Amino acid sequence: MKRSLLFSMIFIFCSLQHFTVVVHSLEYDVGDTKGWVVPQPNATDIYNEWASKKRFQIDDSIRFKYGKDSVMVVSDTDYKACNSTQPIFFSNNGNTIFKLDRSGYFYFISGVSGHCERGQKMIIKVLAVEEPPASGDGNTPASSGAATASISCSSIVPMVLLVVAGSIGLL
Ligand SMILES: *[C@@H]1O[C@H](CO)[C@@H](O)[C@H](O)[C@H]1NC(C)=O
Ligand SMILES: *[C@@H]1O[C@H](CO)[C@@H](O)[C@H](O)[C@H]1NC(C)=O
Repeated sequence: MKRSLLFSMIFIFCSLQHFTVVVHSLEYDVGDTKGWVVPQPNATDIYNEWASKKRFQIDDSIRFKYGKDSVMVVSDTDYKACNSTQPIFFSNNGNTIFKLDRSGYFYFISGVSGHCERGQKMIIKVLAVEEPPASGDGNTPASSGAATASISCSSIVPMVLLVVAGSIGLL
């Protein structure tokens, strides 16, 4: 009885860890229900305000929903100048899912003339995964996520099995 309870607990523990791993990649709708549009003149900073409330992790995705418009990823210089002449990424299919595949900054602008100037632009900061202190930049997130979770799970299982085996006299 006790043993099966123990196994259930291990099972639940490990399931939760996997659950954590799955949930770890999130998809965000840019601008929530508004989508990706030219902001109102009295609220030109809505996208950076939206982004600043999120904690983006590597492999999260952001979805842009829009009508006759486009999404570009540009350099920081081109972002500041609203320069759409040399995008790193371009999409205008109305439903762009962009995967944040690295840490650091991504600079988004609308490629439609005049829209970026009116505030249809956004900087996304993707948090760095926690690394050994040597390469730390003082900016690491509070929780370290998937890798740590699976390590703790896989190291606990053999340990508990060993204890159980010992207690029923197999060792
Ligand atoms: C901005 O203006 C719109 C329409 O003119 C109004 O509905 C909205 O409440 C205003 N937003 C803010 C933050 O003042
Ligand atoms: C945009 O960038 C290109 C390439 O660097 C440059 O030639 C052009 O003058 C820039 N345009 C503006 C409006 O800054």
